[in-house]
Amino acid sequence: MKKRLLSGIRTSGVTHIGNVFGAINQWVQMQNDYESFAMLADLHALTTPSEAVNIEKKTLETAKLYLALGLNPKKTTIFVQSHVPQHAELSWILGTIARLGELERMTQFKDKSLGQESINLGLFAYPVLMAADILAYNADAVPVGEDQKQHVELTRNLAERFNSRYGQTFKIPEYISQKSSARIMGLDDSSKKMSKSAENPKNYIAVLDDETTIREKIKSAVTDSGSEITFSEEKKPAVSNLLTIFSLASGKSVGDLEKEFTGHGYGQFKEVLSDALVAYLSPIQEKYKNISNSEIKNVLAEGAKHAQEVAGKTLGEVKKRVGLLQI
Ligand code: AMP
Ligand code: TRP
Repeated sequence: MKKRLLSGIRTSGVTHIGNVFGAINQWVQMQNDYESFAMLADLHALTTPSEAVNIEKKTLETAKLYLALGLNPKKTTIFVQSHVPQHAELSWILGTIARLGELERMTQFKDKSLGQESINLGLFAYPVLMAADILAYNADAVPVGEDQKQHVELTRNLAERFNSRYGQTFKIPEYISQKSSARIMGLDDSSKKMSKSAENPKNYIAVLDDETTIREKIKSAVTDSGSEITFSEEKKPAVSNLLTIFSLASGKSVGDLEKEFTGHGYGQFKEVLSDALVAYLSPIQEKYKNISNSEIKNVLAEGAKHAQEVAGKTLGEVKKRVGLLQI
């Protein structure tokens, strides 16, 4: 039997190349070998209300991007989190075994709640819902960027705790990431990750940015002191990040790029990098434009049906295990 994969993206903010290189490209590769589920995490988007504007539009847009980036609905079940009520239900049950202390230790929670006047319960319980997303499918593999590693670890702990309290129910999922692309940094500040909630649009290259925007953003991307184009995360974090992006967009190795640009300045390097990004993103944008709302809605309706069947089975088992009345 094929192993199962589940992953997702919050449907708020923009989808950027960090999401593509860090997450979606792995799903595309793995969909041939895994029984795959790609989710649109709209309930998670609700936890940051200021970012979750136009959530409906963002959900459709991100779903179309899944297809444009190469997810094939024949191989991957593409679905919206809120269309499968079992996620919220399982989240509640897992919430009864999660501990306040372990949730307080989540770095994403600490970052996102920093400086907030009031913190909503959803933001605190975010990782429990994510655990429910993963465990409802008994996923073996969860391919995500590095920022989500801690949440997958929590999921493993919750699954183990549940199994030891109620008997073997859940598989223990594995965090999967690609070393080179697990953490793409911001173009405006190479000490912070590229982020969909960045205030400055020059932090990221969105998958749907047009050519002029891409060129402008790369032109104004920060670089490091010195003029050599060499990879060193300690000494040249900004240039190293640009080299990583270049390598992922062009398929050339970082070593080859270093050789190619020996003796060239940042200006020329950035121009060729922009060319590579435009060449990488234009066919994706072209595919995106050709997907209609009705086509994507059909995919999501099919996806929801299948996801509900799989998650429903798990939920039935879980309810029995915890001793809820079955009639
Ligand atoms: P998010 O945009 O936070 O919903 O993240 C969706 C997926 O993209 C998750 O698997 C993240 O770990 C991944 N991701 C987000 N930002 C980055 C980044 N800067 N570098 C690599 N992966 C990322
Ligand atoms: N929390 C993830 C993020 O922000 C998105 C997500 C929600 C997810 N549920 C998931 C990823 C389940 C993997 C598995 O990136």
